[in-house]
Amino acid sequence: MKLSLSSVYRPYRFPTLINSSALGRPFCSPALSSPSTILKPQVPLFLRPPINSTKLCDLKKWHDWAKGVATSIGSAFVHSDNGPDSSLLCREIKWLMEDAVEDHSVFSHVGLEGDECVKMRVDIEELYCLWKQRVQERRPFQYIVGCEHWRDLVLSVQEGVLIPRPETELIVDFVCDVVSKNEDLKRGVWADLGTGSGALAIGIGRVLESEGRVIATDLSHVAVSVAAYNVKRYCLQDKIELREGSWFEPLRDMEGKLAGLVSNPPYIPSKDISGLQAEVGRHEPRVALDGGIDGMDALLHLCDGAALMLKPGGFFAFETNGEQQCRALVDYMENNRSGSFCNFEILADFAGIQRFVIGFHQ
Ligand SMILES: C[S@@+](CC[C@H](N)C(=O)[O-])C[C@H]1O[C@@H](n2cnc3c(N)ncnc32)[C@H](O)[C@@H]1O
Repeated sequence: MKLSLSSVYRPYRFPTLINSSALGRPFCSPALSSPSTILKPQVPLFLRPPINSTKLCDLKKWHDWAKGVATSIGSAFVHSDNGPDSSLLCREIKWLMEDAVEDHSVFSHVGLEGDECVKMRVDIEELYCLWKQRVQERRPFQYIVGCEHWRDLVLSVQEGVLIPRPETELIVDFVCDVVSKNEDLKRGVWADLGTGSGALAIGIGRVLESEGRVIATDLSHVAVSVAAYNVKRYCLQDKIELREGSWFEPLRDMEGKLAGLVSNPPYIPSKDISGLQAEVGRHEPRVALDGGIDGMDALLHLCDGAALMLKPGGFFAFETNGEQQCRALVDYMENNRSGSFCNFEILADFAGIQRFVIGFHQ
């Protein structure tokens, strides 16, 4: 059984130390003022002010304790639900320290010994709590540090918002490819339905011409708020508009006008949710995962809506749970929406799993 959202949960990061001016960090000030109706999203750990101070030897004590806890896990989580093993947990300890400590040069101090104080973005006691949450509650690492590295972006995430997955990055590549061959699509209005953290909307917003824009929608108020935060951090407020509501409901003014439509909707069959990796099933929002009895509820609805919302020649890309859903979606388009779409393709993800259905409105 292939459950993409459970089986591919793997935090990944650039292998080297990253400071806040390096690759992937945006240009706007993180000090944001949000509209009053928008929930104030959590600030990712690496952006918090370094107002705490800890002795190097106390940081080392935390590090040794955290490593001991991680090592004791061995492959227990792998065996129980394909969760992280101790070597991945040890890498996360290093990343957590990098986000928590202001001056990374302290990591070159042999053994982190001494009474010298280091500036921290979090209190050392909270660091203990965070690591306990990670291991005892299986709270996802990305929620602990409040961000995820996705393409060349660093996106804020928190409970209530799906952590964007590596395979979804490919949808931005599909859009890049299509708009590089079609100026009209590059200048048009695109929709990202179920935007979550805003990952796809931001990725696509950055590849469109100056006139091109993206409308990103989500049913979840937390998701819309976090996406708005990320859009602002990347200075794309003029290009990306957030609308809260169910699928096409906030897009009534766009009927027949969209140049493109992308979505990574909830597609896990309901019965499979309980078998997901603890980080996913216990902590990520059910509304982002559960696609109904066969996982196809949202995909079929999106397919019907795409026929109505896209302009002639408009492009669509949908992510699915795998080959079976891709085939079911293409069958649906051919049999129930015949004449609406053309040039369908089923495309594989990085792992070679048939994952995406792309195509054009007739
Ligand atoms: C699998 S997540 C994808 C999030 C993001 N696009 C990504 O790839 O990381 C699905 C998203 O669809 C949203 N969603 C679920 N039901 C919805 C609905 N009826 N209308 C709009 N969005 C919905 C969820 O809140 C969630 O953010």
